[in-house]
Amino acid sequence: MTDLHEGRVVWVTGAASGIGRATVEEILQEGGFAVGSDLPGSDLSWAEGDERIAVVTGDVADPDHNDAAVNTALERFGRLDGAVLNAGIAGRDDLFGESMELFDRVQEVNVRAVVLGIRSVAKVMRPGSAITVTASTSGMRGDPGMWVYNTSKAAVINLVRSASMDLASRGIRINAVCPGPTETGMTEGPYGEGSPGYEDLRRRMPLQKWGRSSEVAAAHSFLLSTKASQITGVHLPVDGGMSANSGQFTPPSFTL
Ligand SMILES: NC(=O)c1ccc[n+]([C@@H]2O[C@H](COP(=O)([O-])OP(=O)(O)OC[C@H]3O[C@@H](n4cnc5c(N)ncnc54)[C@H](O)[C@@H]3O)[C@@H](O)[C@H]2O)c1
Repeated sequence: MTDLHEGRVVWVTGAASGIGRATVEEILQEGGFAVGSDLPGSDLSWAEGDERIAVVTGDVADPDHNDAAVNTALERFGRLDGAVLNAGIAGRDDLFGESMELFDRVQEVNVRAVVLGIRSVAKVMRPGSAITVTASTSGMRGDPGMWVYNTSKAAVINLVRSASMDLASRGIRINAVCPGPTETGMTEGPYGEGSPGYEDLRRRMPLQKWGRSSEVAAAHSFLLSTKASQITGVHLPVDGGMSANSGQFTPPSFTL
């Protein structure tokens, strides 16, 4: 344990599971306090009994929920120094179908809610504060059958670039983290360890291994911290080198 976030208060969305939970744990390990939020009914029991965490439930697509999470930070800890706008949903649909329902909901959660989160935190953050957003390597390129999700993640990458311009004069930095395949609630099932999908994606990453939530959390932690004080508007891949590959050749296979 070091003290990268000593005394600092960070709100993390999607905190019940995967990258969000790991990021809360990272903030606490680094001496900080956290507000963890997630959907009503999600399992936040792991945070029970820890005075350093306040829990809020609601839908990030609801502006009132975003304000409630920010108010919780102020009421419970007296300040808000960081926000990790991480909650997100996957979604695949038929490009040639008729319904726009899934597309609209994915953009609502993965893009519109990030705007709501930025607006809510910017009202109270002081100079020196920072925001991170969980985008994806899927936002950096196209993937077959993934137009719904990839559109949303590309949008937040450019939202982060543009918002960095408008937040700078308030002394607030904003950056995106772009995980590649990472073992979380979102990827278990068809992409669970041992499945053909898991192995296929593993082979596409030069480091030949899936990411862990803690590895993505470490990137959020760095970008939130004062060590990243000259970094804003970037998107940082945490993807085992996947996005470095032009896609022409499969990376060499090896075991260490
Ligand atoms: N796991 C991966 O391989 C991967 C890769 C790239 C990007 N991501 C992104 O990482 C982020 C975190 O996902 P994860 O992989 O940890 O998955 P996860 O499913 O384990 O966690 C996501 C959390 O977000 C919460 N959530 C979903 N919709 C919400 C809403 N409307 N309001 C509030 N909370 C909501 C869920 O309840 C869940 O607890 C997402 O934005 C996802 O798109 C994941």
